[in-house]
Amino acid sequence: MNYAMMIKEYRDKALLSQQDLAAILNVSIVSVNRWENGHHEPTIKAKRKLKELFVQSGMKNEDYSDEAEYIELKECKINNRRYLGNKYKLLPFIKSVVNEHCSDIDSIIDIFSGTGAVSSAFWNLKITTNDILYSNYISNLAWFSPEEIDKTKLKRIIASYNSYSKRERNYMTDNFANTYFSYEDCSKIGYIREDIENKFKKKIINERERAVLITSLLYAMDHIAKTCGHYDAFIQNAKFTEHLELCYPDVPLNNNSGNLCFNEDSNELIRRIKADLVYIDPPYNSRQYCDAYHLLENVARWQKPTVEGVARKMDRKGLKSKYCTNSAVQAFEDLIDNINAKYILLSYNNMAKKGNGRSNAKLDDVDIMRILSQKGKVMVFSQNYKAFTTGKSDIQDNEERLFLCICK
Ligand SMILES: C[S@@+](CC[C@H](N)C(=O)[O-])C[C@H]1O[C@@H](n2cnc3c(N)ncnc32)[C@H](O)[C@@H]1O
Repeated sequence: MNYAMMIKEYRDKALLSQQDLAAILNVSIVSVNRWENGHHEPTIKAKRKLKELFVQSGMKNEDYSDEAEYIELKECKINNRRYLGNKYKLLPFIKSVVNEHCSDIDSIIDIFSGTGAVSSAFWNLKITTNDILYSNYISNLAWFSPEEIDKTKLKRIIASYNSYSKRERNYMTDNFANTYFSYEDCSKIGYIREDIENKFKKKIINERERAVLITSLLYAMDHIAKTCGHYDAFIQNAKFTEHLELCYPDVPLNNNSGNLCFNEDSNELIRRIKADLVYIDPPYNSRQYCDAYHLLENVARWQKPTVEGVARKMDRKGLKSKYCTNSAVQAFEDLIDNINAKYILLSYNNMAKKGNGRSNAKLDDVDIMRILSQKGKVMVFSQNYKAFTTGKSDIQDNEERLFLCICK
C-alpha cells in the first residue's frame, strides 16, 4: 500500500490538517509529514490505526493485504549504528549552512560518505555516495539505491534469520567465538551471511535487497558487539547478555532514479563525476577506519580471510587512507583541484595541534584555506562538538567547522 498517497487522500477527505492527524495517532507532526512525503513508512502501530481510519472514511481497501505489515520486526534508521566521526548530530548545522548560502542545488556528492547520514539529509536531491570501505558502500546502496525492493520478502527473510537457533561451526565461530560475540551469535552471523550470498547467487534477491540484508546484519552486530564502538579491541571476559536480533532497515522506497553509490578512492573517483555540491568529510587524524571497522568489513566482503592478532584483524592493504597519513595535505589539494562543482562544503575540526599524537588533525587551517581559496571564495562556520577520545587525551574546545567554498 502507498501510505504517502493514502494519508493525503484521507486527510483531504476528512478535512484534517497534518497536525490534526498527528493528534489522532498520538505521534508528532514531523512523523505525519515524513510519511506523507514518502520518506518514511508509518510504524506498524500507526499503520493499523491508519487502516481503521481509511476503512471508516469509506476509502477503497483492496490493497490492505500487505503482508509485510504483519511481520513483527523492529525497524532501524540510518543513524542506529555507532560510527566514528558520523555527522548525524551535525545535520541541522550542515543543512542550515547549505540552505542559507547555496542556491540551485539539484545534486550532491558525499565523497567520504561513511554511514550516509549527511546524504540522508539531502534526500530530495540526486545523491552520489562513495566510501573506500565496502561495508559502507553496501549500507549506502541499501539506503540510497533507486533499485526496487520487495519489502515483504525481505521482512520474511529477516524474521526467519531471527528464529535461527542452531549452534553450527562456521568461519565466524572458528575465528571470533567469545571475542566480540558469543559462540552462538557467531554461529548465527556466519549462517546468515552465507545464506544472503546463496540467495543472491540463486537470484532470489537482487543487488539492493542483498545490501539491505547485509546492512541489517551489520547494524545488529554493531548493536551487541563487546567493544567501545570500534573493533580495535574487544572487552575481555565480557558477559554476552544481549543476542543478535536483526531489524528491518527502514530504507526509502522512492529514491531519486539518478542516485549512484561508489566504493572507490575519493581522489580517483572525483576526476570522473560532478555535482552542484560536493560534501567532503575525510578522516581527521591517524586512526584508519579500516582498522576500527575491520570486522564489519570482513563480514560485508565475506571472502573469509585469515585473521590475526588479539583483535582478529584481516589484511587491510588497499583500504588504508592517505587522509590519515602525512600525505593528507597533498591528497586534499589533489582532491580539491579535481572537483567539478558549484559549491564545496568541507567538515573539519580544529584539532590540528591539540589532543595527543593520534588525535591531532592532519590538515591545519593554513593549508585548508590556501587550498580552498585557489578554487573560490571561502566562508567558515563553526559549532562546538564533543571530541572522540580513548581517554588518553584531554581535549577541550573541540570545534566542528564547515568550510564553504563558492567555486569560481
Ligand atoms: C569522517 S568519516 C565520514 C563520516 C560520514 N560523514 C558520516 O556521517 O557517517 C570518513 C570516511 O571516509 C572514508 N575514507 C577514508 N579515506 C577515503 C578515501 N581515500 N576515499 C574514500 N573514502 C575514504 C572512511 O572509510 C570513512 O568512512
